[in-house]
Amino acid sequence: MTIIVTGGAGFIGSNFIFYELTKHPQDRIVCLDSLTYAGNLSTLSPVMDNPQFRFVKDDITDRTAVDRLFEEEKPDIIVNFAAETHVDRSIEDPEAFLKANILGTCALMDACRKYGIKRYHQVSTDEVYGDLPLDRPDLFFTEQTPLHTSSPYSSSKASADLLVLAYHRTYNLPVSISRCSNNYGPYQFPEKLIPLMIANALADKPLPVYGKGENVRDWLYVDDHCKAIDLIIREGKEGEVYNVGGHNEKRNIDIVKIILKELGKPESLITYVTDRKGHDMRYAIDPAKIHHDLGWLPETHFEEGIKKTIQWYLSHRDWWETIISGEYQDYYEKMYGNR
Ligand code: NAD
Ligand code: DAU
Repeated sequence: MTIIVTGGAGFIGSNFIFYELTKHPQDRIVCLDSLTYAGNLSTLSPVMDNPQFRFVKDDITDRTAVDRLFEEEKPDIIVNFAAETHVDRSIEDPEAFLKANILGTCALMDACRKYGIKRYHQVSTDEVYGDLPLDRPDLFFTEQTPLHTSSPYSSSKASADLLVLAYHRTYNLPVSISRCSNNYGPYQFPEKLIPLMIANALADKPLPVYGKGENVRDWLYVDDHCKAIDLIIREGKEGEVYNVGGHNEKRNIDIVKIILKELGKPESLITYVTDRKGHDMRYAIDPAKIHHDLGWLPETHFEEGIKKTIQWYLSHRDWWETIISGEYQDYYEKMYGNR
């Protein structure tokens, strides 16, 4: 079987490629990635010489390039991770998100219609459901929760989801969608909460917590997400949406304190800064469907996962120090300079 993994030079996509090549060594994996600021080819160096792996640098919105790849590879499955993913950047520049996340999804699915595939899988997010109030811990996102987005990022992801479901109904395209909660683990770009706080703490720099730090996210170790997607593309039903999450809700401030404690750094590094515009309060996934239908359960407890993640950042300083030495400095100054 040949699987095209788009966005495979990013955080979750690269972890998924490692997972697939190990779990299904007979399958061929083709990574299609345009290497935006968030894509890093060095991440894929452990698999570059694997004869079952191919890397192609192209943009999913480039229909000629996408068609060429489909003609060359005749893929069975497409797993679309490629996207602009950072909420704060979407608030600064929404258009880039609409292009990659909506038009890119459309271009990929049109190629699927033209050449025929067994499954198109869209990697979506719990953010399409909007947020939940802090004072209703009994509420969770199910697959029936209405889409109700807050940011340009989540709106672009929800638009793509609607398009995917429309292609199923209109063209009978064999699609599936997963909507996962916040991931953490190796190779996450250091603009996101956990790696940013690890990097700043190690440099004894202020840790910028938005608002009061009371917002809640539902954290899942990246390998558990990869395992869920692997199950869905092989055993999940066409036309279905699967929520993915491990019932692991944590306030941002508590995450930051755990990181400081683990690194032996003082809480005086915590700095409360102006809140994110439209900041979602709480995400919480109900994963009952994927558990009952496909037997999926998360394997990594947060206490173990966060320790592994911090250790990974400690032992791979060259990976993230290279990233934060370049244009990231301008980004950091723009986003945090006057906050
Ligand atoms: P990331 O930002 O780390 O990586 C995105 C990758 O996509 C990069 O390698 C980038 O170069 C590539 N890319 C972007 N635009 C492209 C384009 N037009 N053509 C080709 N490649 C392009 O992202 P991530 O955190 O790994 O997220 C991957 C997917 O999972 C996204 O679709 C995201 O919405 C979804 N998701 C992420 C999380 C999370 O917590 N990070 C949770 C749920 C869902
Ligand atoms: O829920 C899934 C989503 O999780 C994915 O769809 C997104 O692609 C991914 O980026 C992530 O979105 P979040 O906005 O939840 O992640 P982020 O790491 O940016 O922020 C997590 C929380 O931490 C959020 O409440 C904002 C807060 N935060 C973030 C940063 C970067 C801070 O307090 N300070 C910061 O500097």
